[in-house]
Amino acid sequence: MPDGSTALRGDVVADALAGLLAPRKTLPAKLFYDAEGCRLFARITELPEYYLTRTELALLERIGPLVRPLVPERAAIVEYGAGSETKAAILLSALRRPAAYVPIDVAEAELKEGAARLGRRFPGLAVHPVSADFLAPFRLPASVDGMPRLGFFPGSTIGNLEPPTAIRFLRQVRQTLGAGALFLLGADLRKSPSVLLPAYDDAQGITAAFNRNVLVRLNREAGADFDLDGFSHRTVWNDQESRIEMHLVSRRAQTVHLGGRAIPFAEGETIHTENSYKHTAQRFLAIAEAAGWRGMQLWTDPDDLFSIHLLEAGEA
Ligand code: TRP
Repeated sequence: MPDGSTALRGDVVADALAGLLAPRKTLPAKLFYDAEGCRLFARITELPEYYLTRTELALLERIGPLVRPLVPERAAIVEYGAGSETKAAILLSALRRPAAYVPIDVAEAELKEGAARLGRRFPGLAVHPVSADFLAPFRLPASVDGMPRLGFFPGSTIGNLEPPTAIRFLRQVRQTLGAGALFLLGADLRKSPSVLLPAYDDAQGITAAFNRNVLVRLNREAGADFDLDGFSHRTVWNDQESRIEMHLVSRRAQTVHLGGRAIPFAEGETIHTENSYKHTAQRFLAIAEAAGWRGMQLWTDPDDLFSIHLLEAGEA
């Protein structure tokens, strides 16, 4: 590969190809998060239009003292999709003598760097990063055996999963964390499209660049030949499904090659790259309950933009 970039794993390329050959074209969301994708996403979280991150951070700061008495001392914190350690640092500061922190993420370099920074900041905290796709089943490191567990899933990433996938994921988390576990989870709320749409289609075009980066990666890391000017970013509010959809729209009829296959595009045909479901708190709780969790606490910001749920594992 040129310029030292890595090749995509064969199964990721196979998933991408299968998605592009389907009648309604899609691409796997894990393609977003290479080093450039992580950098662009960090800029998204600072955009004026993207209210999610700053609202969640402020809410997390505010509820820290309320979460504190509800989580046992010496708990192991397991973070799913640990893109940046800022939120974990707020949570760890609020808890009573947390014993271990297990961040799980596919972005390996970012994961290791964040874990190292947290380890320095919280001496006495055992940090065990796990470089994996958090949707796949995995085993907790043996060193956290016997510790009370708190799962942590901020960033409204739960909204990026189709509801049946969200239920499977939440059930698997419950099984991984075990009986008596707690789960603290940040979820964006359903609201007016006039607020939602700009959050996913900002004036500076950072979200567009983030979306288009999946094509850049397929070109560089899988030998595809996407014409980057041949596709534009489109954000759609799907009211029926209560979700924001991200698409890349082919600006003309064209053929793209990947993995020895020719992929035809009609003018205006889209690749659906991501969903971001905006559930009401009630709908989210129905999903969590279907996965065997019980709602313990629900907090929202004063403008009802964002929610943080504390769940407890029900009987197996
Ligand atoms: N979890 C984030 C969200 O749904 C991810 C995200 C933000 C995203 N902006 C995006 C994903 C743009 C794809 C494209 O808000």
